[in-house]
Amino acid sequence: MTAPREQFGSRLGFILAAAGSAVGIGNLVGFPVNAAKNGGGAFLLMYAIFVFVICLPVMMAELATGRHSAKGPLGAYASLTHGNRMWGIAGWLSTVTPFMIAVFYTVITVWLFEYLFSAVTGDLDVLADPATFGAFINNGNIFIHLAIVVAIVNLILVGGVKEGIERSAKILMPALFMMLIGMVIFVLTRDNAMTGLKFYLIPDFSKITGPVVSGALGQAFFSLSLGMGILITYGSYMDKRSSITSSAKMVALADTGVAFCAGLMILPAIFSFNPETDPTQLSDSSVSLIFTFLPKIFLALQTSIGYMGASVVASVFFLLVFFAALTSLVSIIEVPAASLVDQKGYSRKKALLILNIGMVVFTIACTASFGMVGWLTEFVHYAGSPKSLFDVVYDIFYDTILPLNGLLICLFVIYRWKKSNLNEELETGDDGFKGSFLERYMNFSLGTFIPLILALIFINTVAIKFF
Ligand code: PFF
Repeated sequence: MTAPREQFGSRLGFILAAAGSAVGIGNLVGFPVNAAKNGGGAFLLMYAIFVFVICLPVMMAELATGRHSAKGPLGAYASLTHGNRMWGIAGWLSTVTPFMIAVFYTVITVWLFEYLFSAVTGDLDVLADPATFGAFINNGNIFIHLAIVVAIVNLILVGGVKEGIERSAKILMPALFMMLIGMVIFVLTRDNAMTGLKFYLIPDFSKITGPVVSGALGQAFFSLSLGMGILITYGSYMDKRSSITSSAKMVALADTGVAFCAGLMILPAIFSFNPETDPTQLSDSSVSLIFTFLPKIFLALQTSIGYMGASVVASVFFLLVFFAALTSLVSIIEVPAASLVDQKGYSRKKALLILNIGMVVFTIACTASFGMVGWLTEFVHYAGSPKSLFDVVYDIFYDTILPLNGLLICLFVIYRWKKSNLNEELETGDDGFKGSFLERYMNFSLGTFIPLILALIFINTVAIKFF
């Protein structure tokens, strides 16, 4: 007899673990910069509308599919369609995608760890030097740091759902919230913080163009960890007495709240610590903001609070982002791990060992594609320029397949699994769902405009990225 499926121990544990997955580098740095550059309060408003109007139904669909099947995506699509081959492909896509996203996210998490290590032990002048990032990512030490990050993530995962994922989320997430609030208070009480606050929050509706709208939707979709199989997998560990609706709303609120607070931390910091800052210098990329722009800001902070103070602030910042990245990484590796356990009957340890071997090989190759190894750096050529292996993984899996996976789950719950089954699962543990506005809204939106919008994003991304 097989052991019963492990479950989260409490509703709060589930919410923290799912929020841990959702809160990542995207929220902490991607959102504030996008918001500030694309209409401030107007972007925020649009983002919040997308979270609740488009993303929440997809999130609930993923959770319901997972909880009903009690399987990760591979097993969920297979068991709910009695082994249909075409839907089996959707299951595979939702299993391979998180594996590959885990690879590129690990590369960035290792860089974060390097910066955290240097902020704690080293010299802010070095971190702020523009040459440092290039030197760091091409230094052999990176492989030692990779081993440490992989070890931490696996230490959490090997403990299982309750003792590993839930317990770590219960420590890391409150720590993250506290550090974030502390940083926000610190930043907002600095001179000149108001300039940044205005830059972030004053609505400028003239900036809202077509690409900004689709960018806001993309940001909301990725920020909630949709299309990665994560919520199907976490749903499979949810108990039947919990309400999917209220848990999903809490996760969406926590994720949006963190993104908003990250804006309150980053934008005023940029203006206050370095009043000369020209906002047009901000790049769209989260990566360049964390690793090249912010270290300069921390260095400038030395003049007002001294060297030690500035080092502490820089260390807290990198620790905060590192924790956010860790809980996201844990959730995404759990997806292929659950599939190996469910479908192949492997023990958790064996599944993790196999996945880690594959992941480390790919991560080393992606890390080396930033210049260390020539053919990996110029791996293929498309859209008019050579692309590294890292670019290829990012373009294919993060940018392109995620909306496709989102589209497939919508079509699946409405047209294959059927509305009645979806509704029944959502009513379980939630007396108020039956006959509610939300139920009618879910049934309509998931079968019509949400998949249509996701299909348009998918087609548009393919056209822009690859042709
Ligand atoms: N929600 C995450 C973020 O905003 O950064 C997205 C994510 C990426 C989750 C990678 C998990 C992951 F491994």
